[in-house]
Amino acid sequence: MARVLIVDDEENIRIAFKAFLESDGHEVQTACQVREACLLLDKHAFDVVVSDIIMPGMKGTELLKLLHRESEDIQVIMVTGEPAIDTASEAVRSGAFDYLAKPVSGKELQKVVINAAKVKVLHDEKKRLEKENHQYRTRLEELIQERTTALSEALLGIINAMSVTVEKRDPYTAGHQIRVAKLTRMIAEEMGLQKETVEGAYLAGIIHDVGKISIPAELLSKPSQLLDEEFALIKRHSQTGYDILKGIKFPWPIQDIVLQHHERINGSGYPQALSGDDILIEAKILAVADTVEAMSSHRPYRASLGIDKSLEEIRQKRDILYDAAPVDACIMLFKEKKYEFVTHD
Ligand SMILES: [Fe+2]
Repeated sequence: MARVLIVDDEENIRIAFKAFLESDGHEVQTACQVREACLLLDKHAFDVVVSDIIMPGMKGTELLKLLHRESEDIQVIMVTGEPAIDTASEAVRSGAFDYLAKPVSGKELQKVVINAAKVKVLHDEKKRLEKENHQYRTRLEELIQERTTALSEALLGIINAMSVTVEKRDPYTAGHQIRVAKLTRMIAEEMGLQKETVEGAYLAGIIHDVGKISIPAELLSKPSQLLDEEFALIKRHSQTGYDILKGIKFPWPIQDIVLQHHERINGSGYPQALSGDDILIEAKILAVADTVEAMSSHRPYRASLGIDKSLEEIRQKRDILYDAAPVDACIMLFKEKKYEFVTHD
C-alpha cells in the first residue's frame, strides 16, 4: 500500500480523507498548509500527495512545482472546488497525476489514490532497473577496460620479446629498434597524428627489423662494408619481416609498415620501389627515425656519425628520399625540444 500525504486547510476534510485511505490500508499523514507539508516531505518518503489547490500561504499548484523540483516520481492529486476547474486541468498539464472536484466521495478518492500508487510503483521499478542497468554497464565497461589493458600489455610484451630475439643475434644493434620506435612515436605526435596511428607506428618500430632473424649473424656484425650480394641478402629483411607478421591480426597495419620502412618517396627504396602516397605515413616516419638512429649509432664498420650529421642527412634528402613532414618534425624535436636517444631502457 502507498504512503500518502494529505494537504488541506480544512480539518474535517483531512480527517475524512485520512479515514477513507487508511481503511484501504494506506499509511497516511496530514498537513494543514504547504509549509508543514514541506517539513513532512523532508523527513519522510511519500508515494502520493493529495493536496487542495487553493490554500492560505501557498497555492497547491506551487506545492506541485516544489514537489517536482524535489522528485518527479511523487504522484500528486489536486483537489478543487468548481470555480477552480481551469486551474486543476492546468495542474494536470503541469504534471499532476489527476484532480478531484469537491465534493469528493470516499470511493472516488480511494480509486484515484490506488491508481496513483500503481504509477508510483512503476516509476520506482523503472528507476531501480535503470540504476541496476547503469551499475551493470559500468561494471562491464570496467571489465572490458581491464581486459583490454591486460591484452595490450601482453601484446607489447610479445612484440618486445620478438625485438629482443632478433637483436640477440646482433649485439651491435641491440636497442636500435626500441630507440627507433620511441623517436617514431615522438615524430608522429609532433606531426599531430591520431593516437591510434601513433600507437601502430610505435609498435611497428619496435619490430621493424624482425626479418633480420633470417640473415646470417656474421653478416649482421661484419666489420667491413658489405659486398653487393651481401647487401641484397640484408635487403630481404623487410619482406621477411612482413612474412613473419602477416598471420597476426593487428588492429594497425604493422605488417605493411614493416614491409615499407626502406621505401623512399622518390621510388628508390626497396622491396617494392614504392613512391609518394603509395607509402604509408607510418613507414615514412619510421624511415626518418631509422636513418637518424642508425647514423648516430656505432656500427661494426664505422663509428657514430653524430646527431648533427644525421639531421643534416635527412635535411638534404628532404622531399627527395624522405617525406618533408616527418623530417621537419624530427629536426624540430632534436633542435628545439632537445630530444635525445636513451641508450639503455
Ligand atoms: Fe631495416
